[in-house]
Amino acid sequence: MTLPSGPTTPVLVQVLVAMTQPHRGMRQLRKRYGNAFMVRTPVFGRALVISDPAEIRQLFQTGTDIAENVEPNLGRILGPGSLFALKGDAHRAQRKLLVPPFHGRRLAAFEQIVEDETVRELAAWPEGRPFPVLPSTMRITLNAILRAVFGAEGAEFADLRELLPKLVTLGSKLALLPMPKRDYGSWTPWGRFRTLRREYDAVVNRLIDKATDLDGRNDVLAMMLQSRYEDGSAMTRGEVADQLLTLLAAGHETTATTLAWVVERLRRHPDVLDTLVREVDAGGKELREAVITEVQRVRPVIDLVGRQIRTDGFQLGRWTVPKGMNVLVSIDLIHDDPEVFPNPRAFDPSRFTGTRPDLYQWVPFGGGTRRCIGAAFATMEMNVVLRTMLRDFTLVPTSEPDERWHSRGIANVPRKGGLVVVNRRTTHAVPPAAASSTGAHS
Ligand code: HEM
Repeated sequence: MTLPSGPTTPVLVQVLVAMTQPHRGMRQLRKRYGNAFMVRTPVFGRALVISDPAEIRQLFQTGTDIAENVEPNLGRILGPGSLFALKGDAHRAQRKLLVPPFHGRRLAAFEQIVEDETVRELAAWPEGRPFPVLPSTMRITLNAILRAVFGAEGAEFADLRELLPKLVTLGSKLALLPMPKRDYGSWTPWGRFRTLRREYDAVVNRLIDKATDLDGRNDVLAMMLQSRYEDGSAMTRGEVADQLLTLLAAGHETTATTLAWVVERLRRHPDVLDTLVREVDAGGKELREAVITEVQRVRPVIDLVGRQIRTDGFQLGRWTVPKGMNVLVSIDLIHDDPEVFPNPRAFDPSRFTGTRPDLYQWVPFGGGTRRCIGAAFATMEMNVVLRTMLRDFTLVPTSEPDERWHSRGIANVPRKGGLVVVNRRTTHAVPPAAASSTGAHS
């Protein structure tokens, strides 16, 4: 067999289904066509969607000479220096520079920033009445990245906090649209994006100008400015700006949304919540890590990761893929496969207590040479936010129906923003060493 079959409905109908029913649309296609099928999208063209574990493993293990990043990708929005845009050796060289600051051991330095930002945000939480938690987690993850990654303070911190949500929200929507062939002017969304990007570049230039004394600085920008490629050259300002924007765009909404799903799931599983609070009070972290892992399995915020095949007739499991075709891995479908995760719709963190997931089956961070570079950072951040939240507040359980998925462009968020009701805890045990939480699944 060369390629599987798929729906013949017009592209726009397929897009509409994918946008309005994230996950449900894919699950319906799997029911009809099996665990591999063809789809048509305006951005990726005719593409092969896979969810068979062996085929996913093979794709992630295939070298970049055969399977490169999906095209088009976020690089066209974030700039030519973005990790998403880079290929082959240039991508490898850039990852080599960026991996050290995101390594598990280095992350301990950022834990305090995340805890401080969480405490600051939680101070304004109302008690006893429902509110969506997502705007709160968005502010926490934005501020944490601005401080830990951009090393921003004072005026630059304030400017970026104002500018970046607009830039990233617009970019996230544009990422789903084909790039116009000609420039339609500054009043178009693309023109508006260009204006915001110019403002952003100006602030990053100010940050770099101010970064004269890097001694004692732990932030990722300081590390980028000190790092050197193998030929001894430094990153250019353009590369630094593209890469910082990439880290923010990739790491801000994804982490915030997962945290909103954590709250949404825990409020509907009071038994897990109870045990978790007791564990936090005792200074433990095993169940907390398992909860975060299980939430990422049942509510992955990114639907698909993709690779473009660069050689003709590539044999991927059962399929012969032509050169230039995009292959999309459906994260939700493999996470929802009963052969891989028994009783997959059940929220059951005990699947992961005391054990680490198989990184070719549990794939919220993608896989292979392009696996999320911020996975350990995000895991540390979610751990610290959840620990701080449960230490200072009681989450009130609910019997309301599960929140549905809602597509916000890149990430799938809980439709009501993860509604929460909280009460401030008056007494709680403070864990002795505030149990370090870095490094899980890094
Ligand atoms: C829960 C939070 C997060 C999720 C679910 C997530 C998910 C992903 C996924 C699915 C990919 C594509 C991987 C592939 O193609 O195989 C990716 C790539 C990436 N992520 Fe994350 N991410 C998260 C947090 C972060 C954070 C905190 C950062 C940085 C601060 C980050 C930076 C990146 C970068 C730079 C890439 C591109 C890697 C490359 O192309 O080499 N992500 N992420």
